[in-house]
Amino acid sequence: MAVTNDVKLVVQDLSVYYGAFQALTSIDLTIPSGAATAIIGRTDAGKSSLLRSLCRMNELWGGVTTEGRVLLDGKNIYGPDVDVTRVRRRIGLLARRPHPFPKSVFDNVAYGPRLHGVRQRNELDEIVKRSLKRAALWNEVKDRLQISALELSPGQKARLCIARALAVEPEVLLIDDPASNLDPVSIAKIEDLILELKEFYTIVLATDGLQQAGRVSDYLAFLSEGSLVEFGPTSDVFARPKDKRTEDYITGRFN
Ligand SMILES: Nc1ncnc2c1ncn2[C@@H]1O[C@H](COP(=O)(O)OP(=O)(O)O)[C@@H](O)[C@H]1O
Ligand SMILES: [Mg+2]
Repeated sequence: MAVTNDVKLVVQDLSVYYGAFQALTSIDLTIPSGAATAIIGRTDAGKSSLLRSLCRMNELWGGVTTEGRVLLDGKNIYGPDVDVTRVRRRIGLLARRPHPFPKSVFDNVAYGPRLHGVRQRNELDEIVKRSLKRAALWNEVKDRLQISALELSPGQKARLCIARALAVEPEVLLIDDPASNLDPVSIAKIEDLILELKEFYTIVLATDGLQQAGRVSDYLAFLSEGSLVEFGPTSDVFARPKDKRTEDYITGRFN
């Protein structure tokens, strides 16, 4: 278990509203660096809203109000002089059920780097290879980088989307519900991958799968109805939940 004292993200008094509806209420949360933090909770608890607000993706929709602060390495990503493109590059989001672009495997991974101005073919080759290796997909696709990404299996597509996210070298990887819609073998591969990736990246994972959170996360944050109920090392929260609501959720899920 990677237990660190270094902090990557600090969420302070974060509230998110969709129009008049308050989806997150005054969240305070410290996310350790170089570890995996799982955000757990029932459907509609606010897990996806929290992930999106950690990389300024909520505001892509109209009518969303965000209050509070999110400090990345001590600096507020909602501050006045912030380059949002750079924030989204440093903090990558893998949305729930991500889709590859209808392009080649190579072009999917090269997409982000090209957008950020990388033009040289040998540099792109290197980035694509490194990202696919890191996403544990290289061996399966190295001889067919030019085929359409849509020809890959669902599990390979999921890892391709991870490679695409890694290609711009983020520091934080936000992963929304990686098990959604995948078969058990593909899920196991993704979980193994998360365990490897947390050596290099700070990972925040939203899931309603408690077993999955137990397998891959070092820290656990339990959300209920838009509020943070409990946060701590995963093993502590499982063994000794402090709040009755956490206890009910955990026992309800395992029984
Ligand atoms: N874009 C949106 N517009 C309006 N309401 C939303 C939007 N996204 C989420 N919500 C609402 O916010 C609450 C939290 O949703 P969400 O963050 O998706 O929870 P979770 O990921 O835990 O299921 C839900 O009540 C949901 O209906
Ligand atoms: Mg969700």
